[in-house]
Amino acid sequence: NSCKMCASADKRLESFVASKAGEFETAFQRTIDQKVKCGFGLQGVCCRLCSNGPCRVTPKSPRGICGADADTIVARNFLRAVSAGAACYLHVVENTALNVKHVGEHNGVIKSEKALNILGEELGIFDDDPHKRCVKIADAILKDLYKPRYEKMELVEKLAYHMRVDKWKELGIMPGGAKSEVFDGCVKSSTNLSSDPVDMLMHCLSLGICTGLYGLTLTNLLNDIVLGDPVIRMAPVGFRVIDEDYINIMVTGHQHSTFASFQEKIKLPEVVEVAKSVGAKGFRLVGCTCVGQDLQLRGEHYKEIFAGHAGNNYTSEAVLATGAVDMVVSEFNCTIPGLEPIADKLQVKMICLDDVAKKKNAELIQLDRDKFDEIDHRLINEAVEAYKARRGNVTIDIPKDHGYDESLTGVSEKNLKEFLGGNWKPLIDLIADGTIKGVVGVVGCSNMTAGGHDVHTVELVKELIKKDILVLSAGCSTGGLENVGLMSPGAEELAGENLKAVCKKLNIPPVLNFGPCLAIGRIEIVVSELAAALNVDIPQLPVALSAPQWLEEQALADGAFGLALGLPLHLALPPFITGGPLVTQVLTEGLKDITGGSVIVDPDPQSAADKLESEIVDRRKGLGLK
Ligand code: SF4
Ligand code: FE2
Repeated sequence: NSCKMCASADKRLESFVASKAGEFETAFQRTIDQKVKCGFGLQGVCCRLCSNGPCRVTPKSPRGICGADADTIVARNFLRAVSAGAACYLHVVENTALNVKHVGEHNGVIKSEKALNILGEELGIFDDDPHKRCVKIADAILKDLYKPRYEKMELVEKLAYHMRVDKWKELGIMPGGAKSEVFDGCVKSSTNLSSDPVDMLMHCLSLGICTGLYGLTLTNLLNDIVLGDPVIRMAPVGFRVIDEDYINIMVTGHQHSTFASFQEKIKLPEVVEVAKSVGAKGFRLVGCTCVGQDLQLRGEHYKEIFAGHAGNNYTSEAVLATGAVDMVVSEFNCTIPGLEPIADKLQVKMICLDDVAKKKNAELIQLDRDKFDEIDHRLINEAVEAYKARRGNVTIDIPKDHGYDESLTGVSEKNLKEFLGGNWKPLIDLIADGTIKGVVGVVGCSNMTAGGHDVHTVELVKELIKKDILVLSAGCSTGGLENVGLMSPGAEELAGENLKAVCKKLNIPPVLNFGPCLAIGRIEIVVSELAAALNVDIPQLPVALSAPQWLEEQALADGAFGLALGLPLHLALPPFITGGPLVTQVLTEGLKDITGGSVIVDPDPQSAADKLESEIVDRRKGLGLK
């Protein structure tokens, strides 16, 4: 049957999905049904902005009815996508800031006063009372998000590396209020407004800065305050983490602080007793997608209730198909619609905590910060009822041989530096003497089309570490990499001799797990601090990015951040821009002279790794290194 299914880098997952193919339909089958792609859509040259359309540009008809050429159409479509992607992350940081503000106003739990103080120092926001400091920090962030576009955001200069800020000012891409930047991105790209592809691409860079510094970086730093700092540790990964003896709640999304109080509740002895009264040992959160990665990152603080990370976005259908999940709590993407029929069939209760991610078969319990207790109570009740109703009626089949007992997790910008002795010198020395050739952030999503599920990501990472390039990972790509053992003991054997020796000495894998896609913001901090330590600008560093299996609009907004930082960014599949020659030229070449960044498209993992290596080697030469 497997020939009728999409492949995965994760062979045990692939065989499990195949074994369930008669019972459940998943993305692995649908990928085959959707194999034929629309050529106009792929190139970004289909426009349906007005009733004269859809217009499809071809060499014979190079303009739409209104006169828009291919580059205008492509740039409008691209700006719309980046605006939507930025909007998604800005929704996440807005809610996170409101959650931190709520903690501040209601004397809630501050899990890391250290994280609060570090962020307060960085932003120049002080108060002797930690709760008041939370409110002030949240307010400063919200104020920036809500500014009009003609007023620049205030925290950008405090968060970003100073040489980049200078560059962004020179280019005129310092963002005004983040939400207003999104708003005008929609305006610009509407019918018969902007026709200037370069202006629209520069707008994408501003949206990238909003996304990176607020949606990514600040979301992490706010979460550290209320959910606890990441701690480096070994944790089990894959389907083996699921234990049928518990009431299992799968979590999907990106807004971890949304269910922070629920996590505390299900730890309580009296709540565990409720689970016991129906025959379970307690409650377990089964991590899926990025919010599961975020929980894994902070797993040290949630040992009693966190089962472990089971898998990424396109693994989630298979996690449900085990039959061992009783309830799904989702608060954002990547909660794929394909979960719905499987949940219906297996009587899995679906609950959404945010209407932006409302699933049609799910109950919506819209987040109301004054009713956390009531919401937690309802969630506990629903989980218990689902467990009672379904256990005994559904088959449970967990592939316990899937995944690894030990995978290194919990790496952050702060604890990695501490691990190295309190500063970046040991890493810089290893890079300077060539033991580590450079660093690549392999980030972003997992998709089904770049050779199959996680196939390109896994192959690329193997090639990179073979070349003594250290990999930092964040996003659903991380879920794929950990489930094939690239963060487990033994992975160092796949690295080149030099990197292998470093891994053995430090007892670390060659791929460091920063967790969710949000943690691309943590990798940005590492990169900025490395640049600061060397007093060079970011584009001079032997550092590159790859979002090999980018999936969604959010990833395009992340990518725009990488380009604003001036980094080379590899993608296995191009965004839908190739029909616009000018847009393609600017993104792949022209930007090098603007921000220093560039997009490298290469569907072959081996030659992609060669290209990333040569970018790194060029930068090493620029710094006078061998
Ligand atoms: Fe066609 Fe122009 Fe209308 Fe787009 S806006 S559908 S290119 S006429
Ligand atoms: Fe994500």
